[in-house]
Amino acid sequence: MPNLTNIAYLVSASLFIIGLRRLNSPATARRGNQIAAAGMLVAIVTTLLANRILSPLEVIGGATVGAAIGLYLARTVKMTAMPEMVAAFNGFGGAASALVAGAEVNNLLAENIPMQPTETVTILISILIGTVTFTGSIVALGKLSGRINGNPVSFPGMRALTLLAVAGALGAGGAMALAPTSLPSVAGMGGPLAAALGIALLAALLGVLLVIPIGGADMPVVVALLNSYSGIAAAATGFVLSNTALIVSGALVGASGLILTTIMCDAMNRSLLNVLLGGFGGDSGDAAGPAASQEGRTVRQTHADDVAILTSYADRVVVVPGYGMAVAQAQHVVRELFDLLSKRDVDVKFAIHPVAGRMPGHMNVLLAEANVPYDKLVDMDDINAELENTDVVLVIGANDVVNPAAHNDPSSPIYGMPILNVENARNIIVFKRSMRPGYAGVQNELFFNPKTQMLFGDAKETVEGLIGEIKGL
Ligand code: TAP
Repeated sequence: MPNLTNIAYLVSASLFIIGLRRLNSPATARRGNQIAAAGMLVAIVTTLLANRILSPLEVIGGATVGAAIGLYLARTVKMTAMPEMVAAFNGFGGAASALVAGAEVNNLLAENIPMQPTETVTILISILIGTVTFTGSIVALGKLSGRINGNPVSFPGMRALTLLAVAGALGAGGAMALAPTSLPSVAGMGGPLAAALGIALLAALLGVLLVIPIGGADMPVVVALLNSYSGIAAAATGFVLSNTALIVSGALVGASGLILTTIMCDAMNRSLLNVLLGGFGGDSGDAAGPAASQEGRTVRQTHADDVAILTSYADRVVVVPGYGMAVAQAQHVVRELFDLLSKRDVDVKFAIHPVAGRMPGHMNVLLAEANVPYDKLVDMDDINAELENTDVVLVIGANDVVNPAAHNDPSSPIYGMPILNVENARNIIVFKRSMRPGYAGVQNELFFNPKTQMLFGDAKETVEGLIGEIKGL
């Protein structure tokens, strides 16, 4: 029933697009995910039943096991480990595409069907990009989880080895596309299958070589890019299998991954090439303590009782959350602070920078988890216009996204990056543990601003202390 199959694929593609559209806002993102998941279910069930691969009972059994594993992972994975999980998903997606393309080569050989050049090209794209995605994602996962050194790794001759692997893979691919019948068989394997295996091995090496020179802190961008690769590999596999749903879903993942990568690079004011060439943002950090000074300048230190008075009697308070809030898991106490101040008629809003934290939407997700009302989360451009009329800004575990060097210092690596202009507010309180820099590794002039006071300590503990003081007022 090809018509029914095509209608089912059309339904699933529509569900993917509606789901993606709803990821636009935190208020609709959860429903968007469910709609896209329903689309995927329709596509998988249709494919399995239409091709008589599995019986309906086996489909239900497989879906139950898959759903149980997914549910377990979704419930147990920590929010800060989300980029690792996405890296693993991308890697498996890439590996699946490469394996399916390899199996197709095997099938064609077994049935003695000559490979058409266009078919060979799509198979090659699947194997090459799928395997690069697999090994690249495994390295990214290792760097994100700390199992592999997060510092950029390079060795003499690395670029030459990379170019050699690219040339070898393209050479074998070219031979496979242009003269598949003249390829010699290797160890009992038909020529094209041996070539496909060789390409996969070179691509595996390439995936490692492309990701190891990139610093651990740049891994989220790499993961977004690998996500795009996994989509391209899946779309190519869709062409190999003539499966419309796979082509559409792969193209959507490929395009959205690329858009996300571009957004992340723009918001960090870095080019993609600069990220891929590596050498930025390893594990290093200046170990300066709380009382550290820069060129003889000292910072003003404050305490919870003073901040309690300042915030409780303010009209407008803006909270700027950053990576440190995620590390300290302070989102729930921050919500409690929001409730407490709101009850005292203080207008409290949250300023959301697009690359605060370590993954896209990191702050939105954390604050949504703590049930902070969505309408209190304000995007950078909108809140910047309000900061001049703000009495107190609470910078909780954020650093680079409020660093004025982005405006003032052309030599700074973050120069040109759009930031939250918190120095325009009347008072600035910075919650962090020390004078250590953030992700970009640069000191922050804001900390030396006469309007700034530092509240040193773990963000969760200092916010808890502040809550205690406000309650005691
Ligand atoms: P960062 O600039 O990385 O600063 C985070 C600050 O949090 C640090 O200065 C750290 O200071 C503090 N901190 C860490 N643990 C803490 C804790 N337990 N309690 C209190 N403070 C703690 O963070 P940001 O302002 O959110 O900026 C994000 C950066 O990551 C940007 O440079 C961005 O380009 C980059 N980046 C973002 C993404 C995405 S998509 N979000 C992806 C890749 C890179 P102490 O150590 O002194 O406490």
